[in-house]
Amino acid sequence: MQNFNFKCPTEIVFGRGAEEQVADKLRAYGASRIFVIYGGGSVVKTGLLSKVERILLASGLAFQVMGGVQPNPRLSLVRQGVRMATAFHADFILAIGGGSVIDSAKAIAHGTANPGIDVWDFWSGRAKLTKSMPVASILTLAAAGSETSDSAVITNEETGKKAGLNTPFNRPAIAFMNPELTFTVPKKQLVCGSCDILMHTLERYFTSVKETNAFTDMVAEALMKNIIAQTKIAVDDQTNYDAMSEIMWCGSVSHCNFTELGRCKDFTCHKLGHELSGKFDVTHGASLTTIWPAWAKYVWQDDPERFATFAERIWNITTGTTAEKAKAGIEKTVEYFRSLDMPTNFTELGIGIQDKRSLEYLADMATAEDTKKLGNFHPLDKAAAIEIYQLAN
Ligand code: NZQ
Ligand code: ZN
Repeated sequence: MQNFNFKCPTEIVFGRGAEEQVADKLRAYGASRIFVIYGGGSVVKTGLLSKVERILLASGLAFQVMGGVQPNPRLSLVRQGVRMATAFHADFILAIGGGSVIDSAKAIAHGTANPGIDVWDFWSGRAKLTKSMPVASILTLAAAGSETSDSAVITNEETGKKAGLNTPFNRPAIAFMNPELTFTVPKKQLVCGSCDILMHTLERYFTSVKETNAFTDMVAEALMKNIIAQTKIAVDDQTNYDAMSEIMWCGSVSHCNFTELGRCKDFTCHKLGHELSGKFDVTHGASLTTIWPAWAKYVWQDDPERFATFAERIWNITTGTTAEKAKAGIEKTVEYFRSLDMPTNFTELGIGIQDKRSLEYLADMATAEDTKKLGNFHPLDKAAAIEIYQLAN
């Protein structure tokens, strides 16, 4: 087991009616002027926004509301949010929605706490983030894990770059997680979310670290088996409270770094997928199920034993040689994605790419023009990234 530091300070308020504690809890964290942010309108339709507004009003807390966050959240709206939150003298940001809204809230918090610095500078690496302001979320979709993660992903629509920022300042103060709020999620988002949760665990299961990490492996394997089983139930009945609870909690655990302790993360598929979302605006979970099969077929021979272990423990594949088990495990995973109607190649994703120049462009964006290698299980340079995009094509 390698050395590690783990600090996930986010308070979790989980269960039916969790959001009703929002005013009391935020006040306890010192909030007095709350900037509330939401997405494209699902929370207006479900009545959640007006419910939260009523609770905040009744408690006497000052607040201002901004909507309009799109999936693959855009920098321009974040900048607008920074201007509004600054003018409002906000001291707390509250996100109501999924990962895109929470990531925008984190970015608005960073921008508002650092006047004079363009918020994108933190994502491009031009400026170092040294302070921020507290963020809370009322989660409506189990997927990205942003409610507890140290990450936030923003798309700069001027350049087509979708980039993540990892920093302890991204850890929210508190998350309100009521599984009932996810009953209205469109089926496509439900399965994209579950696949994202699975991928957050997979991208920590296959890494360069070969030391024994028995407990971390067991946590990861239990999480993967559970998300696969519960998603099957939820797809048939999205109002199944138990299944939606399991998925919601798995989403937070999968991306708070708990399943990488003593190891590290790889996240190659995420980086290759972000370029697809940046250029074609594809849904995050769908970008991952498109890339993973190609990535796995490209890299499995680096560590066939690990892939065979995955096949045995997740898919119960117990016969055959190590190589046969490894390959069967990859096929089973691809079949699983297909069983959820998730895309497993560019054509199924709806972005068939014909010319090699476009693949080169994606690989250039992902590797900063071949100056950065991706991941550690099999570090990828630009040429390798092109090969994986080609395999996925
Ligand atoms: O915008 P509204 O109208 O709310 O609709 C949303 C949106 O269209 C809808 N939705 C959410 N909850 C709903 C609902 N519709 C009905 N009922 C509800 N209860 O779902 C759609 C997708 O929402 P979005 O927030 O984009 O989804 P998700 O949570 O999957 O977040 C995806 C974003 O998070 C990033 C992704 O790259 C992507 O940009 N990620 C963030 C991470 C992080 N911060 O740690 C890690 C992830 O790996 C990921 O990269
Ligand atoms: Zn993800």
